[in-house]
Amino acid sequence: MLSGKRIILGVTGGIAAYKAAFLLREFQKAGAEVRVTMTPSATRFVGLETFASLSGHEVAVDIFPEKGQSSEWTRHINWGEWADLFVIAPCTANTLAKIATGISDNMLTSTVLAARSPILICPTMDGEMYESPGVSKNLQTIQEQGYHVLEPDSGYLASGLEGKGRLPEVEDILEKASDIIGSIEGPLEGKKVIVTAGPTREHIDPVRFISNPSSGKMGVAMAQAAQSLGADVTLIHGPLSISIPDDLHSVSIVSTADLFEAVKEFQDADVIIMAAAVSDFTPVEVHQNKVKKLSAASEIKLQQTQDILAWLGDHKKEDQVLIGFAMETENLLENASSKLEKKKADYIIANSLRDKGAGFEADTNTVHLLGKESEQTFQGSKKDIAVEILNTIFR
Ligand code: CTP
Repeated sequence: MLSGKRIILGVTGGIAAYKAAFLLREFQKAGAEVRVTMTPSATRFVGLETFASLSGHEVAVDIFPEKGQSSEWTRHINWGEWADLFVIAPCTANTLAKIATGISDNMLTSTVLAARSPILICPTMDGEMYESPGVSKNLQTIQEQGYHVLEPDSGYLASGLEGKGRLPEVEDILEKASDIIGSIEGPLEGKKVIVTAGPTREHIDPVRFISNPSSGKMGVAMAQAAQSLGADVTLIHGPLSISIPDDLHSVSIVSTADLFEAVKEFQDADVIIMAAAVSDFTPVEVHQNKVKKLSAASEIKLQQTQDILAWLGDHKKEDQVLIGFAMETENLLENASSKLEKKKADYIIANSLRDKGAGFEADTNTVHLLGKESEQTFQGSKKDIAVEILNTIFR
């Protein structure tokens, strides 16, 4: 349920803050991407670097980025849009009171207000505090406001006393988070989405082929993003240099001809995303045995492969959304918009091999989403871009 999901982990200043490091790990093991925001007092219990190293992302404490961080002061808004779920564990009485009254005096509380996602709050404090009238009232208020609350466990507390106030076990928080995520209807709920990814191989003989360095990262990211928005996804992929998440239904192919046959099986899908780097040419003659170098001809005769996206454009079903890619080295937007028109696609996601940090094997990308009357640029990790593009098209 949490695979491919984006979770903000909010950590406030209680001794259970150290347990949030284990929670972060478990979210990651479940396939989620995690960013951490801490209140200033949480940093007295656990160092920023712990969460920064574990999450692989800067940790946000103040609304204004800390020295050396690259983001902007609007990051509470960006993070609020980014997340599928915001989990505050542990949540102190102080932060709880701020949430109940809408105070936004640090990154965590500001992101609470900016978040579009559901928010799960795990109140954690000493037993007497938890039972106090103020805390009880605030808990009631936030539940009425639509926040999810996971009640604390009872037992031995850091003060040495026994009572209700312990941070629930990591598994229980994970289960609650999964339940919340599972109950959200994504914009692609009930839709069948086909994503093609990776290169195709056009064999010359059993040991040689024509191909390209596509890793499949962008295509797999698109498939995961579609799945996280509720779609029933099938990934059709050539030989990839990355692993495919276990929960993604996938079909493997080798050549463009195989890809064409596989795509035709799903031509009625609601959405087809052609992220595969399809070979445009295939040898006219395929040798059944390895061609010996002394007998090899100095030329290989090639013929064009089927343009699958153009074929899909010609056979497009009503209401079907067809999304193609365009990888260019020059005249990016001009070439991409001519592909949009010629192939009768609804959108083309164009990128240039010349852009820094973009291209076949990189984890990041800069892409332009071209629609019939719109154009928008996205920059960042391929995973983030994939979610943002699908949200832009389908939300
Ligand atoms: N595509 C396809 N079948 C092909 C070639 C490309 O379906 N035989 C799809 C790709 O998956 C991509 C889009 O068409 O979604 C554009 O691919 P690209 O390689 O950028 O363009 P080409 O059509 O091959 O044109 P050119 O090589 O001239 O840039």
